Amino acid sequence: MKRILVGIQPTGGLHLGNYLGAVRYWVEDQAAGESFYCVVDLHALTVPRDPAELRRETLATSTLLLAAGLDPDTCALFLQSHVAEHSQLAWLLECTASIGELRRMTQFKDKAAKGGEEAARVGLFTYPTLMAADILLYQATHVPVGDDQRQHLELARDLAERFNARYGPVFTVPEATIPPAGRGARVMDLQDPAKKMSKSAESDQGVIGLFDPPEVIERKFRRAVTDTDSGADAVRFDPEHKPGVSNLLAILAATTGSDPAEVAADHHSYGELKSAVAEAVIGLLRPLQARYRELEADPAALAGVLAAGAGRARPIAAETLGRAMDAIGLVPALPGSNS
Ligand code: TRP
Repeated sequence: MKRILVGIQPTGGLHLGNYLGAVRYWVEDQAAGESFYCVVDLHALTVPRDPAELRRETLATSTLLLAAGLDPDTCALFLQSHVAEHSQLAWLLECTASIGELRRMTQFKDKAAKGGEEAARVGLFTYPTLMAADILLYQATHVPVGDDQRQHLELARDLAERFNARYGPVFTVPEATIPPAGRGARVMDLQDPAKKMSKSAESDQGVIGLFDPPEVIERKFRRAVTDTDSGADAVRFDPEHKPGVSNLLAILAATTGSDPAEVAADHHSYGELKSAVAEAVIGLLRPLQARYRELEADPAALAGVLAAGAGRARPIAAETLGRAMDAIGLVPALPGSNS
């Protein structure tokens, strides 16, 4: 049986790139195995976060996942901090990983470089061991990750293998799943199509927020960077030479479930293409936004979903943690004596 584990950073700034590149596939694949969706609120603490904002964004991200179509009867949606075993297993994995291999993580190097390594939080350094715990606790077989997380997943595999070799077979070694070509849309910034659409972009003019109202979406597409080509075949899919136009075609194709090169044949001017993409995206986001507002109006229901998700996750996590603690040589506590 396939076990899928997805870790999602709590963020208020989800955009079209996140939706078309990731969220949509998580939703589509939720019934492909036993699925666990973990909003990683503990990981959010590795960089400065305002407490009220963290709480708000954790709930907003959970709500968004439900609005996008995660079904709590099909999968487990829960908060990382609600299942204490994540922190507990992370310690055992910190005692499995070496300083050298954590130091090689490019995300740590990049993020620590920003404010200086001396000032970086220790949690930023050990981040990948907590991520490995998220995965290994559930004996996940499949973990969908983007390119930026491949190295962390590779580390999780190494830690699982090392732990198993040292102490006996406790963990399943997970595989990364990457959306197959044609499925995973890589959405670029509308103002700077050489860059991936990202919430950390300098300006939000090239970023379509999932909660942007229709007129804002229209305006952002109208102002999207294209090029000055005015030939009869100006609208064509050619990411290398026509990145702006190709990005619009890729977005349109992804929203309509078709192929960017084919979509190109239906459009003859940039203006017309831009209106078509804007309309398609507005149509895609409208039901998501409406469902979000409904869910947002009932915080108690969300709390119930998260409690049920943690309830489903906890016994599996506890069983794996217990086996790992036992294998590593910790003396079992008498039943009922701890927690
Ligand atoms: N590190 C991931 C990111 O930044 C989030 C994450 C945490 C994760 N734990 C995970 C992803 C477990 C997959 C599996 O996107």
